[in-house]
Amino acid sequence: MPEKTTISIIKCDVGSLVGHHTVPEPLLNVGEKNLQEAQKSGIINSHYVFHAGDDLELLMVHQKGEGNPEIHKLAWDTFQEAAKKALDLKLYGAGQDILKTAFSGNVRGMGPGVAEMEIEERGSDPIVVFAADKTEPGAFNYPMFRIFADPFNTAGLVIDPAISGGFKFEVLDVLENKRAVLKCPEEMYELIALIGTPSRYLISHVRRAKDDLVCAATSTTRLSLIAGKYVGKDDPVSIVRCQHGLPALGEVLAPFMHSYFVEGWMRGSHWGPLMPVGLKDARCTLFDGPPRIVALGFQAAHGKIACDDEGKPMISDLFSDPSFDLARREAVENAVSLRRMGEFEPARLGAGEMEYTTLPKVLEKLKGRFTKA
Ligand code: 13P
Ligand code: 13P
Ligand code: MG
Ligand code: MG
Repeated sequence: MPEKTTISIIKCDVGSLVGHHTVPEPLLNVGEKNLQEAQKSGIINSHYVFHAGDDLELLMVHQKGEGNPEIHKLAWDTFQEAAKKALDLKLYGAGQDILKTAFSGNVRGMGPGVAEMEIEERGSDPIVVFAADKTEPGAFNYPMFRIFADPFNTAGLVIDPAISGGFKFEVLDVLENKRAVLKCPEEMYELIALIGTPSRYLISHVRRAKDDLVCAATSTTRLSLIAGKYVGKDDPVSIVRCQHGLPALGEVLAPFMHSYFVEGWMRGSHWGPLMPVGLKDARCTLFDGPPRIVALGFQAAHGKIACDDEGKPMISDLFSDPSFDLARREAVENAVSLRRMGEFEPARLGAGEMEYTTLPKVLEKLKGRFTKA
């Protein structure tokens, strides 16, 4: 049996430059230094450090499996060190997502977001990693549905017999902490009934129905549910495999041809249009947004990210492409329309989601002002 390959993307808001806007070079350097050392000592085989808005993203490829304590500790220690650096530099929100201090082998439930996937490498295994800022994991429900269940998005569902058996979606109910698996196309309507509520039901994994081949994994961290209050948005990550019996790369990217609405944006309290951007534009500005998403493509090869002649991992910055200009333009136009509404719903999130923000404190102050009507 060949050794399996694991792709881990672990991310954390450790503090950022000028509000919640971007991760500056000194923090990225902490990530690069630590992952380089870990690669030299053989803990990981490949890495790529980047940021999505104010979130520091550590992409690691290794052969230690999912939830491995050594890999998680590497990420945890790196985030601690970067947060300390952020504090020294007086950056904004230093250590924002480090919600717990006692590390016990896994970063899940401690603040950082994690998506991991252990795979048996196929003859060729193209992978896309998505990372978003100013939104929550439910933001992936819509594109995951389009990619793996919508024949208007994914031509292969119709014309490729290798895909036509459909996909199974593992859905997590974050309030009850329960999961269910629904199969498409048979249970498509029921699936939408659940995942149309992205603040509660998250697609955590997608598997190919005929052989359970894992095709997608997303982070499911809801910071407000860990902390019991608003501490910043979850800013999720996801890993998707493509081609050869799975949706093609272009089908994985097709849902981002248009912008769509996600929860998050300013103070994590507003609906906002998601904007697909290249790495250079992964900075949130206008009303702390609009929420952004980057997509990095690479080949998993021999337990690593396939490298160029100099040994550098070959990473393709997939949204740095004029084909996504329309979505970016739509995002700006929709951002402007929503902001005309100020703090009136539906620009602001509904009351349920606002419970975790600072709004209840304002309402509390007004309690005594109400008399019987
Ligand atoms: P503060 O300015 O008090 O941090 O609140 C605004 C904000 O950015 C919430 O994360
Ligand atoms: P982040 O979750 O990206 O830190 O953003 C917090 C916020 O309040 C932005 O307005
Ligand atoms: Mg932040
Ligand atoms: Mg963020």
